[in-house]
Amino acid sequence: EKGGYDHFMLKEIYEQPHAIKDTYRGRLLAKDGIIRMAGVENHKEKFLNANRIIIVACGTSWHAGLVAEYIFEDIARIPVEVEYASEFRYRNPVITNKDVVIAISQSGETADTLAAIKLAKQHGAFVFGVCNVVGSSIARETDAGAYTHAGPEIGVASTKAFTTQITVLTLIALKLAKEKGAISNSDFHYHLEQLELIPDKVSKALESDTHIKAVAETYKDATNCLYLGRGYNFPVALEGALKLKEISYIHAEGYPAAEMKHGPIALIDEQMPVFVIATKMGHYEKVVSNIQEIKSRKGKIIAIVTEGDTDVKKLADHTIEVPETLESLSPLLTTIPLQLLSYHIAVMLNKNVDQPRNLAKSVTVE
Ligand code: F6R
Repeated sequence: EKGGYDHFMLKEIYEQPHAIKDTYRGRLLAKDGIIRMAGVENHKEKFLNANRIIIVACGTSWHAGLVAEYIFEDIARIPVEVEYASEFRYRNPVITNKDVVIAISQSGETADTLAAIKLAKQHGAFVFGVCNVVGSSIARETDAGAYTHAGPEIGVASTKAFTTQITVLTLIALKLAKEKGAISNSDFHYHLEQLELIPDKVSKALESDTHIKAVAETYKDATNCLYLGRGYNFPVALEGALKLKEISYIHAEGYPAAEMKHGPIALIDEQMPVFVIATKMGHYEKVVSNIQEIKSRKGKIIAIVTEGDTDVKKLADHTIEVPETLESLSPLLTTIPLQLLSYHIAVMLNKNVDQPRNLAKSVTVE
């Protein structure tokens, strides 16, 4: 059932090229320049007239929501708030019938997310679900939705659910951007073409596995790790840290790279591995200067870089390459090596990768 892999988690990491393709199949029609999503199409007015989108989720799904915030605001020019479902539901939040709430959940059973949806509905908001499990409680409770077609995710640490959630949310953002006229035709077409290339690029990123395993060997005995990223890749830093924590039990924190100097930099010494997402895009120079700051404090730098990068290579202790893509799509690639790193470290430390202590696949109690 593990299809020849040692663990479900590894199998699911390797399934991502297919899972992403299955998620956009029938929706992304790049040649025709169309995104077909009935759940969005049938409620277009709700989305287009919304004052804002509120995304509610927990854990990894919340990280996918953060990536979506960048995409929706950047490409569709719709204001977005991303909320931990557990905080949102107890905060007496301001919700009106001009709000659209998007609930993201792999299992579709997370108690806090379900409660947040019920609250939003009571206040008249339109609620849209992004779930993986068909017919789950959240899928049934929402007004409309779009499934991720990741297939069953058995490993407790979420991997393919995350990348397929980002895929669905990207499709929604692009579709709304097009409807609103927030994106030019040529840009829209370019995004569709680039999204269609992602599965092959994920396969390419997976080819670094042997190299990533060697990097894992070097850092498996660390007791603390930092993960840094900017822009679209800030949520990827959070997700990288979460993956390491939950399966290897190594303490890790994700930070926006520029926040480092407001505190975490005090932690940096030669014992501290710092994983930096430094792909060649928007904030590249800024990330390079963050790397210099770490280096001058003797921190160990492991950088995720764009294929062919030379600048970061000169500074970092280790680099792991991913193919080039649009900045907005880069989380789909930069996440891959961080998943593999956590996996290999956990295996080397003899941890129960698929069923980490204290964790459950679906959190049906608050
Ligand atoms: C992380 C993880 C959890 C879940 C969270 C939400 O790897 O598995 O953080 O992401 O419990 O679960 P869903 O998406 O099922 O609502």
